[in-house]
Amino acid sequence: MAKNAAAKSFAAQATVQEPHPPHILVVDDSRAIRTFMEENLGKAGYTVHCAENGREALKVLAKRHVDMVISDIDMPVLNGKAFRAKMLEEPEYATLPFLVMSTQDTEENVKIMRELRVSAFLSKPFKADQMIILVERILDYTNLLISAQQEMANQEKVMLLSSIMSLAQALDARDAYTRSHSDSVAETATRIARHMACGATMVETAHIAGRLHDIGKVGIPDSVLQKPGKLTEDEFNIIKTHPGIGARILEPIPSLFEVATIIHAHHEKYDGSGYPRGLTGEQIPFLARVLALADAYDALTSDRPYRQGMGKQQALAIIKKGRGSHFCPTCLDAFLESI
Ligand SMILES: [Fe+2]
Repeated sequence: MAKNAAAKSFAAQATVQEPHPPHILVVDDSRAIRTFMEENLGKAGYTVHCAENGREALKVLAKRHVDMVISDIDMPVLNGKAFRAKMLEEPEYATLPFLVMSTQDTEENVKIMRELRVSAFLSKPFKADQMIILVERILDYTNLLISAQQEMANQEKVMLLSSIMSLAQALDARDAYTRSHSDSVAETATRIARHMACGATMVETAHIAGRLHDIGKVGIPDSVLQKPGKLTEDEFNIIKTHPGIGARILEPIPSLFEVATIIHAHHEKYDGSGYPRGLTGEQIPFLARVLALADAYDALTSDRPYRQGMGKQQALAIIKKGRGSHFCPTCLDAFLESI
């Protein structure tokens, strides 16, 4: 596949959007309000999801794409203000339009709503038509903004990935194993991330980090990278520099900075015995812990010139032994379930 086409297909895979009609999440502890909203929004052509408090709403957001949230303020467990504050902490949810419906349109509440960047405030009780018009206007405005931003972001991503792909292809040309290995690691890491209910952005990051995790090997001499036999200690020390080299290649690109930090840590081990920095536990970025599993599984099951790949069950038995030492226990459980 041509370099640019590969980058485009990569970006396209990463930005799959749910089809319309728009999905609206309604959050209210009153069953009557939820039913009212579901009926009227449904009649107007929207797909409606309901939650009875902020905590349940966060679970819905983690599971599926929504285009807009309409939320009450006063709710048990996690109220509307705390729910909105949590949404703002997540880049993926922070830009979702958020319409508040409440009886408490006091001056103080309206001030807080402004700080929480809500799109509009509907005072209860309200009429269905009034609510539908407001929802339509907010969604129209948001869609305009989103398409402009997506167009710019996609163009930037295609250009950047195209450049990075050139580099990855230079490495693939030197070492055929790296290409199939990187594809498998990307696929497994993506599957684990999805299984752990990660959002679309994180799943995309897992895919890119998996595909590029060994990019730092472009800085490793052929005599070491392609040596068929066992490496000497000095040669292994050279191999150990590839996560740092990979990170330095990607760090200057703002949209790949997180990928760089993950790649830097993909050979760290949970107990601190990995390289290059000997990070432990949660010091290791979450997706680097996921990559470590995907990387190990593919390495164990792949054929190499000097040995045959082992069977799935044998590889899984070895990986299970690394629980808490090499591998993060939570990620390991998710990996075993996902496979
Ligand atoms: Fe590596």
